[in-house]
Order: sequence, then structure tokens, then C-alpha cells
Amino acid sequence: MGWLKKKPRMTFSTVLICVRIESVQIDILTLFPQMLQSLLSGGIFRRAIDRKLVGINIHNIRDYTHDKHHTADDYPYGGGAGMVLKPEPIFEAVEAIKADISHKQEVNMMQIILLTPQGRLLSQQIALELSQHNHLILICGHYEGVDERVREHLVTGEISIGDYVLSGGELAAMVVADAVIRLVPGVLGSEASAPDDSHATGLLEYPQYTRPPVYRGWAVPEVLRSGNHARVAKWHREQAIIRTLERRPELLDKANLSSEERQLADRLQQS
Ligand code: ADE
Repeated sequence: MGWLKKKPRMTFSTVLICVRIESVQIDILTLFPQMLQSLLSGGIFRRAIDRKLVGINIHNIRDYTHDKHHTADDYPYGGGAGMVLKPEPIFEAVEAIKADISHKQEVNMMQIILLTPQGRLLSQQIALELSQHNHLILICGHYEGVDERVREHLVTGEISIGDYVLSGGELAAMVVADAVIRLVPGVLGSEASAPDDSHATGLLEYPQYTRPPVYRGWAVPEVLRSGNHARVAKWHREQAIIRTLERRPELLDKANLSSEERQLADRLQQS
């Protein structure tokens, strides 16, 4: 039974301590490779690939079919609307990827994830856990679903990116890939930026400003221009707490706050 099929036991801080993966290989199985290809040509994907920190291969599920029509889906047993993705091409695609890997260790570390609205809701915690694995296979579901044997006997986990239904798992796979690869050391311009992200600390991110110092009469808070690092750090932390309280108060219960910060949060909550 895969780790994503049950609640993860690693705590947030444990994960942060053990993250040190040097490069990640992501293989994406899809019926619509061209949809994904265009996203790889820019932004964080391009940068991570160019720096050889991430390898992304897109596989067309139809390439693993054997009939002349390249049939990847079929009618559901028992009737019902829509088509279901067949198991054989998906199993064969995963087996072909595994056969290409020379290190047995890597196969053991691999996570095989089905993107589906029935999966566990993606969170920063899950992205962190996935970034511990140096090889991910992301399977994009389509049509009415995927043959249950893929769920039962192939995948190690299932992920949903939200409580809504997309036409397929492609966009969800790219969301997962983006959330994971930005955690690979060296992918972001500044290694310091990922730990401050919204959710990375268990809080939403504090407000950010850049030049000019005054725009249309709206000034950047004085503390940010003070050059006093300790004051700035305190302000960032307080603002993150305030913002989380205003927008996602339920996150505060689980956030790692000092007793002073907890008092501040309680005071703000009561006022
Ligand atoms: N496929 C369709 N909807 C999805 C969702 N919400 N998350 C992941 N994969 C999906």
C-alpha cells in the first residue's frame, strides 16, 4: 500500500530536515502530450530542465497500445456513461519506464501517482513528501475514469488538486510537477525563496513590496526600508500571522508558532 493511500506519518518539520534530493525525474503518461509539451518550454520547467535539475519525459499512452487504432479506452463493464481508460497500455508504459532504470534503488524510491478528483487533496506537505523521491510517474486520467486495476495494482498514490472536476489529469499533473520541482535545490533563483512561500511555513506569506518606495501616494511600510533585519523578520512573521488569520484562520491551529506568536494570534482573534 503506497504512502499516499494512507495519511502521511512524517511531520512537516521532519520533512524539511531530510530534503536534499539533487535531481528529480518526472515521467508523465497522457493521451494529450502536446498539451503538456508547451508548458515545458518556459518558466520554471524550462529553467529546471536546462540546469539538469529536473528531467521531464512525456509519454503518449497510445504508444503502448497494440491495435491499429491505438485504442486506449473502452466501454465500462456494467454500462454507464463515458469511456474508461484501459489498463494494459498504462501498465506497459510504467513497466517500460522502470525497465529503463538501471538502479534498483531508484525503482524502489519511485512514486506512481494517478491524478484524479478522488485522490488526496494536494498540499504543500504532499509536495514536500513527493520532492523526497527522485523519480515520479504521473498518470493523467481521462474520460470517465481509469480501470480500477490501475488503482489497485499499479499506483502508489492518488492526488486531486481540488474539489472540482477537470476534463483530464494533464493540468493537475503540471500543478503537481510545478509544486514539486520548485522544492528541488537550485531550481528557484534564490534558494531562500521556497521556505518563505505561502504554506511552506504553515502560514500564508507576508505582503511583499518593491520599488518605488511611494507609488500614487501609497508608501512601502517604513520597517521594510529601515535596514534593520531583526525588525524586518519580526514584521514578516507578524504579517504572515495576521494574513493567515484574516484569510485562512483554520491554518493557524496547525502552524508552528512560538508562545509569543500564539499570544499575538489569540489577541488578534479576540479583537
Ligand atoms: N482529473 C480531473 N479532475 C481532477 C482533479 N480535480 N484533480 C486531479 N486530477 C483530476
